Amino acid sequence: MKLVLAIYPGSFDPVTNGHLDLIERGAKLFDRLVVAVLQNLEKDPLFTVPERVEMLREVTRPWANVEVDVFGGLLVEYARHRNAQVLLRGIRAISDYEYELQMALMNRKMEPRIETVFMMPSETYSYLSSRLVREIARLGGPLHGLVPQIVEERIRAKVT
Ligand code: PNS
Repeated sequence: MKLVLAIYPGSFDPVTNGHLDLIERGAKLFDRLVVAVLQNLEKDPLFTVPERVEMLREVTRPWANVEVDVFGGLLVEYARHRNAQVLLRGIRAISDYEYELQMALMNRKMEPRIETVFMMPSETYSYLSSRLVREIARLGGPLHGLVPQIVEERIRAKVT
């Protein structure tokens, strides 16, 4: 039987409980799940890519079939290089759909052999995003329940 490798790409600056919820669902559905952090040149990141990777590795330790990696350039090229069959993306609300559909169709145009699979995180996290977490973090607001404990600690250490 063919094993299915899925890639869950993103910026993960930082990983949130919404991401973790999706990782848990993806780890159940696919044989192997690679959480792939985009090596981008964002102007004002909260965490460096190595810091994000380290936190992701820590919080995904419970799942033996989950791996954390870094990629640069085109996602479909990375997926091809990893022999992945699936790109996993989360959709929280209708507002995510338009951008996600556009990306999925563009990725399919570039690489028709790879399917994008959308999953919905728990409705508990439907309002949660890394962007809002970064903003609350910088303004010293409460992050409990929004990000894993170790991320909360790292944020506190960074902004105090
Ligand atoms: O967590 P994000 O920022 O929503 O993730 C966006 C990501 C990393 C999935 C997207 O920006 C991406 O795939 N970038 C890699 C470059 C690429 O392949 N661009 C073409 C997309 S159609």
